[in-house]
Amino acid sequence: MYVIAVLNQKGGAGKTTIATHLARTLQLGGADVLLVDSDPQGSARDWAAVRDDQPLPVVGIDRPTIERDLKSVARKDYVVIDGAPQAHDLAVSAMKAADFVLVPVQPSPYDIWATSDLVDLVKQRIEITDGRLKAAFVISRAIKGTRIGAEVTDILLGYELPVLESRITQRVIYPGSAASGMTALDQDPNGEAAEEMRALTAEVRALIETPVPAI
Ligand SMILES: Nc1ncnc2c1ncn2[C@@H]1O[C@H](COP(=O)(O)OP(=O)(O)OP(=O)(O)O)[C@@H](O)[C@H]1O
Ligand SMILES: [Mg+2]
Repeated sequence: MYVIAVLNQKGGAGKTTIATHLARTLQLGGADVLLVDSDPQGSARDWAAVRDDQPLPVVGIDRPTIERDLKSVARKDYVVIDGAPQAHDLAVSAMKAADFVLVPVQPSPYDIWATSDLVDLVKQRIEITDGRLKAAFVISRAIKGTRIGAEVTDILLGYELPVLESRITQRVIYPGSAASGMTALDQDPNGEAAEEMRALTAEVRALIETPVPAI
């Protein structure tokens, strides 16, 4: 079982959008997946509840006991954790449960600077686990057809965490599909949004499945 935590203490970074899509993409690829909503706002639970025939199981664990609580849920191929904004203890708990931390960040210096505390925590955790925890940034809500400025890329690279090649673009289909408890993959499986989410998922899977070199 692999646990992927989608974390960023900055609100509105795209955590829930990416967590729901990542989970659904993995599921559509044939995996047994659970989405854990660790946000007391309950966004992922609200999202799931809108659709009567919701195919994705979603549970709420919004106490800093995620690592322990996950041990009592049935084993899955993947657990995706939707992180909470501004909750240090929940982020630490999610990180302890995780094999992979995905940090969505909007391509703006303010948003990138705001991740520095989280990056410190992630790096500490990578060290404590001898590299068994992996992590990467993904650019979220990029404006279509615009390049990410070199300055912005430099700030991000300065954090010394990998940045995924895939990017998630600002698209109306993300809030649009969420409003009916769906994802872009359900609403327009051959569209560009579905395609970028499949690329993101493939990249995350490849990183997770790369063995950690023995020390
Ligand atoms: N790629 C995108 N394109 C268009 N809208 C987006 C995109 N990503 C997120 N949004 C919208 O921006 C808002 C915030 O996104 P989301 O809820 O995914 O972020 P979050 O990091 O989970 O926020 P919070 O910190 O409040 O939990 C939502 O209204 C969402 O629909
Ligand atoms: Mg959210």
